[in-house]
Amino acid sequence: MHVDIITLFPAMFQGPFAESIIRRAQDMGALSIAIHDLRSFGLGPHRQVDDVPYGGRGGMLLRPEPLVAAVETILDRPVFRGVGGPPVNVAELPPIILLTPQGRPLTQEVVRQLARYPRLVLICGRYEGFDERVRRYLATDEISIGDYVLSGGELAAMVVVDAVARVLPGVLGYERGAEEDSFATGLLEGPQYTRPPEFRGRRVPEVLLSGHHARIARWRRKEALRRTLQRRPELLTHAPLTPEDRALLAEIQQEETHSE
Ligand code: ADE
Repeated sequence: MHVDIITLFPAMFQGPFAESIIRRAQDMGALSIAIHDLRSFGLGPHRQVDDVPYGGRGGMLLRPEPLVAAVETILDRPVFRGVGGPPVNVAELPPIILLTPQGRPLTQEVVRQLARYPRLVLICGRYEGFDERVRRYLATDEISIGDYVLSGGELAAMVVVDAVARVLPGVLGYERGAEEDSFATGLLEGPQYTRPPEFRGRRVPEVLLSGHHARIARWRRKEALRRTLQRRPELLTHAPLTPEDRALLAEIQQEETHSE
């Protein structure tokens, strides 16, 4: 997968992309990232990229020309769906994604979808946002990482790249890692323990030390269900639950009413 990121703050990406999983994904050739400085596509001697909004509101908006020039240079073909311009077949383009608080929410399902593309273009907003023509005629997708406002799309782009990188084939060292994550199964992950078996009187649940694989698997599933019920019950309405899961949930509900 190749990711192009268009930003006014290229230096922000240096640290996060040079460490850990994103670093490993690049080193093993599963991921390449190119950071493009929007300023170098700016207008005039001052390389202007923004301007005041029409209609007398405060703040500044990103103008369309530098963003369109950046994407058309990176992809080396027309991408802006202008009037009377060259035809643009969106289906042939990589996703051109704006990071904004108005986008569709990033979920693990969206991450999995994005990971199937060989190439992504991420555009980081700044100031009060984008000229609407960028949204309508340049971008093909718009993603938000949550219902809060960041000062720009850079951190959101890093979140997208991180989440996508770790589901690319072969990137996680251990085989089943990404499949068992919270959300991958539609449930939150249950509690996990490592050594020591007892710490200041607090013991690891006996079943995990038993070596009894079927009992351990049942315990894990039950605790994942319990955690999801307690913390994110709405996830249970969409999670694919088996009859055994429903029996475990009934057990959990019994246990919880008895412990109250
Ligand atoms: N830019 C500013 N806030 C954002 C958010 N919540 N998600 C994605 N991009 C953003």
